[in-house]
Amino acid sequence: MISKLSNSSTKEAIFYALNECRFKTFKLFENIDDTIFRSQYHPDFSPIGWHLGHIAYTESLWLLEHSAGLRCLFPQYRKLFASDGLPKSERVQLPNLEEIGYYLHTVRDKVHEHIEVANIEPQERLWRFLIQHESQHCEIISYVLEMAKRGYGAEEQGCRGAGVQGKNILFSTQHGLNAPLPLTGLSTLSEMVMIPAGEFEQGNNSIDALDNEILNHRVYLDTYWIDRYPVTCGQYQEFMAAGGYENQRWWSEDGWRWLQTERVIQPLYWCSDRRYDDHPVCGVSWYEAEAYSRFVGKRLPTEAEWEKAVSWDAYNQRRRIYPWGEDIPTPEYCNCDRLIGQTTPVDTYPAGQSAYGLSDTLGNVWEWTASWFAPYQGFQSYPYVGYSQVYFDSQHRVLKGGSWATRPWVLRSSFRNWYHPGVRQIFAGFRCATSAD
Ligand code: AVJ
Ligand code: FE
Repeated sequence: MISKLSNSSTKEAIFYALNECRFKTFKLFENIDDTIFRSQYHPDFSPIGWHLGHIAYTESLWLLEHSAGLRCLFPQYRKLFASDGLPKSERVQLPNLEEIGYYLHTVRDKVHEHIEVANIEPQERLWRFLIQHESQHCEIISYVLEMAKRGYGAEEQGCRGAGVQGKNILFSTQHGLNAPLPLTGLSTLSEMVMIPAGEFEQGNNSIDALDNEILNHRVYLDTYWIDRYPVTCGQYQEFMAAGGYENQRWWSEDGWRWLQTERVIQPLYWCSDRRYDDHPVCGVSWYEAEAYSRFVGKRLPTEAEWEKAVSWDAYNQRRRIYPWGEDIPTPEYCNCDRLIGQTTPVDTYPAGQSAYGLSDTLGNVWEWTASWFAPYQGFQSYPYVGYSQVYFDSQHRVLKGGSWATRPWVLRSSFRNWYHPGVRQIFAGFRCATSAD
């Protein structure tokens, strides 16, 4: 098998990535009991067992039906695991882990047979899409596991105990906390970087670009300032202590309405332990990010402002794939891939800085931007309209950068994530910007 595969380095790379990705997927399900597997912890999020089945369904649809031309292997799962099949609330009636595991293994065995004979070069983009698709669903699984661990939601389904037990798990990974106290003080952490006026290249035309990242295009931006670090818990605490959640003054009209409905008083993943002071705030909605920005006399950066500050190498007039250059993400550069299991202080990765000197841009927490999710000029749906296009509805804000749970295959400066501005279950924080005047 391997000898056949090594006739093609593309094939070998894809084969290796598919299996590495899947290995990490199954790792998420070690020691998961059946109640957690099938519980819905929030109306916007499906049970983790559903995501697992949907991964198999999507791989089967694109690689076995479309690419290999086989018939649907498990027609009984089509309605349950298609993204447009059932409402999320009805995705709790699931086969068990063993059955869904069998589904995944059966599909993957056929994929292995197919990859041996297929001419995959012309379809390389599709294979890379699937690795990224699985990676993204696994990050959503991480959000649901975090809710389960903290005992949020699903009480009516018998999950009340999970939170108590989970409290121990929450602090079992001490990495960020045992790190030596950062030398940078609060004043340094609120430093801003000036980005001089000029053009840069936004987007990504490479083989692993998703439809919404294409086409690469030049954008001119006036001079602006952007925070060197994401907003930390210590900084955000000042907003809370000043009554930020009670004072309408900092909130937009939509934000205040959202706050009155949701009755939020702190970030979803808030931890009052002062040892988290230099960690980025995590679990805020776009509205909270907007309110904090106004409180400190700043604003959220646009997506273009974020991307220029993170990816543009002005000296060489070139965009970089990653803030630090072209090397793939490793623990030297950023906190990703669940390697640490939680957030880290924002100044933990000096090697990961961008050319303009921004820190902690990829990994740790996703960062909300001021921009609506919208297509670039020349956009074409791939591989299906439901991937990006249906979200170009001025209802979703763009997030950039990735979190501590993001897999390396979806970690790059051009990657665009999107959510409703009221969502706070994702591992999201933000950094602020100001216009130069
Ligand atoms: C880009 C994370 C918002 O979860 O809807 C997965 C990713 N799209 N399957 C989502 C996605 C189709 C998408 N997000
Ligand atoms: Fe999907």
